[in-house]
Amino acid sequence: MHSVDAVTEQMIRSVLAYAENRLRLDPVPLDRGSRDPAELDAAMAGLLGDEPHNADQVLGVYASVVAPAVISADSPRFLGFIPAAPTKASLLFDMLVSCASIQGTSWLEAAGAIHAENQVLRLIADTAGLPAAAGGCFVSGGSAANLSALVVAREVARRRAGPAAGERRWRVVVSEDAHSSVLSTLRILDVDALTVHTADHRLTGDAVRAAVAADGDPGSLAAIVATAGTTNAGIIDDLDGLAGVARGLGVWFHVDGAYGGAGLFAPSVRARYAGIEHADSLVVDPHKWLFAPFDGVESRRLRLPPDPAGARAAAVVLAVRARGGGLPRCD
Ligand SMILES: Cc1ncc(COP(=O)(O)O)c(C=O)c1O
Repeated sequence: MHSVDAVTEQMIRSVLAYAENRLRLDPVPLDRGSRDPAELDAAMAGLLGDEPHNADQVLGVYASVVAPAVISADSPRFLGFIPAAPTKASLLFDMLVSCASIQGTSWLEAAGAIHAENQVLRLIADTAGLPAAAGGCFVSGGSAANLSALVVAREVARRRAGPAAGERRWRVVVSEDAHSSVLSTLRILDVDALTVHTADHRLTGDAVRAAVAADGDPGSLAAIVATAGTTNAGIIDDLDGLAGVARGLGVWFHVDGAYGGAGLFAPSVRARYAGIEHADSLVVDPHKWLFAPFDGVESRRLRLPPDPAGARAAAVVLAVRARGGGLPRCD
């Protein structure tokens, strides 16, 4: 495993040549993600088993079967969904950190990687106007980030309500355009949605205020979830108005900027994000409009409100998609 023998030498040459060609493809072909499982079964039959295979043979199966059966999100013809749009530089560096088997498990083992993560996080937090105490972590994607943030939101609601709340069933205000991962999160957390409908699909402070007044049970609300860039239409909710309502109700304000959060870096649209600085938690997907690869970065910020029993610092969590990540700074 540790030595570079003739087989390893051959693999280095073949794999690097393949990687070079892939990086130079112009244009990258779209390929076709969906295949009949029986077709793939036949093409990959016998690869896993007791008999060894020549490395070039395995690379051949990858090149001729596996890769073309995965749609190329970096193809200029890929216009569906919002997966990743990596730059060549990010792909190259991803390759480099893979070769180094780099991980970010803990400061003791990985201060360099964690420091780099923290710098990216600081940049995102500062660009959003979050307080200096804000921090975050890289997780496996926007879905995991929404889950993580709303776990904290529910916990904070429980703590604030104290024992008097007993087994109260919590609810979270969402718009009908909230990403499906938010709804899945609520199911996982056993929390109900108070869905607020708006004619133009933009959730506003006024609409939530009216819905809460009509609903009559504000005590069961744990959070308001706003979207900064809806998946279907890129709409940025009325973040300032929603932050004000959340503050008035004393509930957590979560902003899902997984898709649109990168717009914070564009001076031409920055004003549309006014109010994001009040978020208690914020999700940004750098593998979308920040052009990192899937293995790259994903940020969220979790800030615990002041603990009545004694001042409590902001929670800082940072992890990396598919690279272990861990929770290096979760003080
Ligand atoms: C608004 C929004 N939130 C969350 C997600 C989920 O992100 P991920 O696919 O990284 O889990 C998406 C994905 O498109 C999204 O558009």
